[in-house]
Amino acid sequence: MKRIVFLGPPGAGKGTQAAGVARELGIPHLSTGDILRAAVASGSPLGQEADGYMRAGKLVPDELIFKIVGERLARPDTRSGFLFDGFPRNLAQAETLERLTPIDRVISFEVEPEELVRRLSERRTCPKCQATYHLTFQPPKAAGKCDRDGTALLQRPDDRPEAVAERLRVYAKQTAPLLDFYRQRKLLAPVNGSGTPEAVAKRIRDALR
Ligand code: AP5
Repeated sequence: MKRIVFLGPPGAGKGTQAAGVARELGIPHLSTGDILRAAVASGSPLGQEADGYMRAGKLVPDELIFKIVGERLARPDTRSGFLFDGFPRNLAQAETLERLTPIDRVISFEVEPEELVRRLSERRTCPKCQATYHLTFQPPKAAGKCDRDGTALLQRPDDRPEAVAERLRVYAKQTAPLLDFYRQRKLLAPVNGSGTPEAVAKRIRDALR
């Protein structure tokens, strides 16, 4: 099980879990969100184009995503497998991925909407290494600073309430239909994303056996 997709609403814990799973399996963690945020931070043409969509909580146009994913999958480290986090996000993206590579398993994170909002409203992120914290559930050791590199933590612009509401709407309309898409292909493994990160990690490991 080394060609994996993490599917789930914003704030479900995909990024929190993906790093550990990818490390254990020796596969790269491919987060389209992280790639886009790095592009925004660098001011590249891709970042300039993506920024407005991301701030508003909307999906970045498929052509940009296909370019990122095609380039990333062409790199040799994906030969042993990969963990996609945040891709695919609509039917066109799922169909494109199907043409590019087989998938072994799709882990879908199930978390109640109120819990998603609670997680996103208190999330803080390190702009340098992308590490993620939660002011209540996973606070940094020193207030406001990244444990790994001491950088000042920020709130993602799309974690503000208006953008969160739009992201949840976009998920329900465009991404949730992928649950049926992958269920029909017998690839879907639903995982309860509530409880401690350790409890969720164990459920994911079991689902990948
Ligand atoms: P992306 O970065 O992919 O964001 P997302 O899917 O909205 O997911 P999040 O990163 O918000 O949540 P997560 O599930 O990773 O949760 P996390 O682990 O951080 O995409 C951002 C934007 O980029 C999109 O809106 C879009 O504009 C664009 N984009 C990206 N990919 C695209 C694509 N394929 N097509 C088009 N556009 C694309 O956890 C959240 C919080 O909860 C954290 O604070 C964490 O500490 C805490 N937490 C985690 N687990 C637990 C737990 N078990 N208990 C308590 N707290 C927990």
